[in-house]
Amino acid sequence: MSADFKLEVLKRLQGAAGEPLSGQQLADTLAISRTAIWKHMNQLKEEGYVIETIRKKGYVLKKMPDIIDVAKIKASLQTTSFGHNIHYEEQLASTQPVAHQLAQEGAAEGTVVICEQQTAGKGRMLRPWVSEKGKGIWMSVILRPDVPTYKAPQFTLVAAVAVAKAIEDVVDVRPEIKWPNDLLINGYKCTGILTEMQAEPDRVNALIMGIGINVNHTMDDFPEELQTIATSLQMITQKEIDRATLIARILLYLEQYSATYVAEGFTHIKREWENYSCTLGNRIRVTTLREQFVGEAIEISEEGILSVRLDDGEVKRVYSADITLES
Ligand code: BTN
Repeated sequence: MSADFKLEVLKRLQGAAGEPLSGQQLADTLAISRTAIWKHMNQLKEEGYVIETIRKKGYVLKKMPDIIDVAKIKASLQTTSFGHNIHYEEQLASTQPVAHQLAQEGAAEGTVVICEQQTAGKGRMLRPWVSEKGKGIWMSVILRPDVPTYKAPQFTLVAAVAVAKAIEDVVDVRPEIKWPNDLLINGYKCTGILTEMQAEPDRVNALIMGIGINVNHTMDDFPEELQTIATSLQMITQKEIDRATLIARILLYLEQYSATYVAEGFTHIKREWENYSCTLGNRIRVTTLREQFVGEAIEISEEGILSVRLDDGEVKRVYSADITLES
């Protein structure tokens, strides 16, 4: 059975906006048999679409399944290349290794790996990332900036700004960025970003930008240990968020900001990052793999490195750490 016809049937059901569409009319416009239409309807139902059959009138689409609508992402894209290749799976251990593999095989910049559920989602600092089925955006995007490897960490900040801006546009709430790239709303974490790199000795070959967003979770969807620190976009807005629209907007800003970075350098993005930051100017606790200290976050450098002034005046440069806001 052709997936293209199934997609066409779906598009027409969506376009009918709740009005019945007759099987005969569908068959005529698509030039396929009524039996084929009936089979496509059944397949859509199996995929979770609720389609009512009204005698003598036809089919009505009542409800979309709670899955990411890849066709809708593609229809909403305003990019030149990002998101033109999307690898969608219902379940993966993690989207990161799949994107790594594709990058090694030569996948183009902007290729996306996305799934409904990760069974072994990876967070920063070797932590697990809880990726509930059907609730979030769990995706990895392949970037191929032509830059030396020491510039790779700046792309983490590029991604944080891109996601913050997309959330602001689509969801109408303004997230704050906690260095380097956690997005918080009202102090609770809604997004994490994990940047991994494939490199030649001194040039970046590919960046695998892993983005995890808690979108349509209710409090009960989070394990107990996350309930006091995590939030979702739905919990903030009390509205169900369309993940496809948000994904398309993230890809647009990721494409635009990484191009700006490559063409003009970090200055413009640094300014945007600073506008979203809830870190700078605040007293923070810094935990690295080796030590812990408290001080005031004073600036990020052109390389994205955080400077923290300790109480005795010493300024420490922080390359990779967990931070918590003290006040
Ligand atoms: C963090 O610790 O804050 C980073 C979390 C990154 C999670 C995302 S979800 C998509 C991608 N796949 C993973 O396994 N991790 C990243």
